[in-house]
Amino acid sequence: MEVSSESDSEIDEEEQKRIDEEMKARQQKKKGMRTSVSAEVYGIHNVKKPFIPRVIPKTNDQIERIKDKCMQSFIFNSLEPKELKTVIDSFEEKKYTAGQNVITQGEEGDVLYLVDSGELDCEKVFKAGDPPTYLKTYKPGESFGELALLYNAPRAATIRAKTDSTCWALDRECFNNIVKDAAVKKREKYENTLKKVEILKSIDPYELGQICDALKTENFEKGETIIKQGDRGDIFYILDEGSAHAEKVFEEGKAPEKVKDYKTGGYFGELALLKGEPRAATIVADTPCKCLSLDRMAFKRLLGPLEKILQRNSENYIKYMKK
Ligand code: CMP
Ligand code: CMP
Repeated sequence: MEVSSESDSEIDEEEQKRIDEEMKARQQKKKGMRTSVSAEVYGIHNVKKPFIPRVIPKTNDQIERIKDKCMQSFIFNSLEPKELKTVIDSFEEKKYTAGQNVITQGEEGDVLYLVDSGELDCEKVFKAGDPPTYLKTYKPGESFGELALLYNAPRAATIRAKTDSTCWALDRECFNNIVKDAAVKKREKYENTLKKVEILKSIDPYELGQICDALKTENFEKGETIIKQGDRGDIFYILDEGSAHAEKVFEEGKAPEKVKDYKTGGYFGELALLKGEPRAATIVADTPCKCLSLDRMAFKRLLGPLEKILQRNSENYIKYMKK
């Protein structure tokens, strides 16, 4: 991908950089150097600029390590190979000593970080004057600092190296051109459905964004079995479109009984993941269904804080069974 669109809300500084880049591309062209197609297509007054990615030389070992980390990261793992190469080339190695701030809440930010080694703590002041609240610890393979780039907002939290750490820093330009559009679209696409999910109502907008990044869409036809009682279960589902029902065989050899109906915003498949047991019921699509799914690892990581609520809600199944 050579060029992609940028949001209208880009800051003036970006506009300036854009013009500078355009000028550079024109000069290159004049000198007869090969330049990107985009530089020829877009005029200097066009808001779209040619994207000339930076290439920071790396050893094969570094490239492999970044690739491996990108594959674990929801924000990078859906990139095309060519896009991934551009991103890898653009990453810059940054080293921090324990106690050093990488990001400071309230400051402007132009970089997203991917943790290579070490651990970094995240804390946030929710109300001016209040002490910061510890939120989480970032480990290798996780990324942070995406909010300032996605929403052109000041840094929403502070990230401090807990141990000596190495991070890969991705510049705003590369992020905007390669990663942002897909990430923003995915978040917009899923946020509306997630807002209808009762158990997610209490969740922080940051966590909600993280869940959006990790979701996948699965479609089912009318009458299709989405989950089968007794199977091993590794996926949690949220119903995005359509209706479905749960049915359960209470005694071997007996016909299943309908135990629950689902509509948009309903969720199922949490029990097998919470308890490590086989699927406790069968879920059948009553109409064509579009489901959002989270795999076991993402479920544990992102919905871990909701485990108590999920457990409490699942007690309703037991009440129902006893009726
Ligand atoms: P950014 O706002 O760019 O910089 C601080 C980062 O902290 C932010 O992006 C997120 O990547 C990360 N972060 C982790 N938890 C939260 C949270 N609850 N609210 C805001 N940011 C968070
Ligand atoms: P899981 O056991 O992973 O897969 C089947 C799902 O059906 C289960 O999680 C619940 O989400 C859902 N379900 C709905 N009603 C019941 C019920 N009465 N007993 C068990 N599971 C139920």
